Amino acid sequence: MGIARSLLLRASRSRWLAAQFSRRAFARRALRRFMPGEHVEDALAAARRLEQEGHGTVLTQLGENLTSLAEAEAVHDHYAALLETVRDRRLPTHISVKPTQLGLDLSSDACGRHLDSLAQLAAAAGSFLWIDMEDSSYVDRTLDLYRVLRSRHERVGVCLQAYLRRTPADLASLLPLLPAIRLVKGAYAEPAALAFPAKREVDQAFARLGRTMLEASARSRSLSVFGTHDLQLIAMLRAIAADLAVPDGCLEVHMLYGIRSADQQRLARNGLKVRTLISYGQHWFPWYVRRLAERPANVWFVVRALLG
Ligand code: FDA
Repeated sequence: MGIARSLLLRASRSRWLAAQFSRRAFARRALRRFMPGEHVEDALAAARRLEQEGHGTVLTQLGENLTSLAEAEAVHDHYAALLETVRDRRLPTHISVKPTQLGLDLSSDACGRHLDSLAQLAAAAGSFLWIDMEDSSYVDRTLDLYRVLRSRHERVGVCLQAYLRRTPADLASLLPLLPAIRLVKGAYAEPAALAFPAKREVDQAFARLGRTMLEASARSRSLSVFGTHDLQLIAMLRAIAADLAVPDGCLEVHMLYGIRSADQQRLARNGLKVRTLISYGQHWFPWYVRRLAERPANVWFVVRALLG
């Protein structure tokens, strides 16, 4: 891992930096590159605009590691209301949640109940519930929650991270459930014993896992989602999907709002199902700094915003 990436990932966990940075006007200007705004209505307006350009969307409220179950309940209620709005406005919008935002650190049972309720509401709204994957200490608990959820609901998916050495085994254990999986490279600082340190190894792991997912989609119509901006990987996996005759509707690419927007439009025009993940909310600092860590050149956006 490069020094800049490693420093930025360390910075993303600093509460002091979060407090300093979050209240500065220049930081909010820089944030606009990756977020249409802090409020849910900003995200919904962006979702409507993207729908008109032919994109589906996934909405996520930022925030991690809560300190009370009441906060988790409030997050659940927020997403429940959002799913009602999605249904009423007929938006092609899914939601994506972090288990720690729904109380995983405090009570696995409470988190499971919130996920179950949101999965039910998502299905009723014609939407879909995605579960993000946080750092490696949460993988077992997150997959356990997903297994229970998948046994009860159709429209639920979970994220797997290609950088983790354990992921091929996790994928193999999930495939019998006909899962929906969103494969990503992985965004957290992990030790080399658990995660591939070199980008090349992560890319190779992504390609291998992607092929396995597509083979499963070709057999069983399970949904394979690739959450990446890596156009080479996308082209390669699309070619594999064509070879395997993966049925329509079983392959999607998800990208983040504000990253490679022109490519997102081009891929959608070329017939690929593309969804844009839109984040909103006030607790954006750790998430934002992880975006900088993915491409340290992004720090220049912050510097430019600082200079006005
Ligand atoms: P890579 O980093 O190789 O980038 C490929 C190219 O894309 C770069 O060369 C650059 O041009 C462009 N690019 C990538 N990131 C950029 C950035 N921040 N700014 C500007 N350009 C950029 N992670 C996780 O651990 N748990 C999760 O639940 C999720 N969820 C998730 C959902 C979705 C829809 C996406 C797209 C990503 C995630 N991630 C995630 C983040 C993921 O793990 C990864 O860190 C980023 O997607 C960056 O990796 P890429 O696959 O884009 O490749």
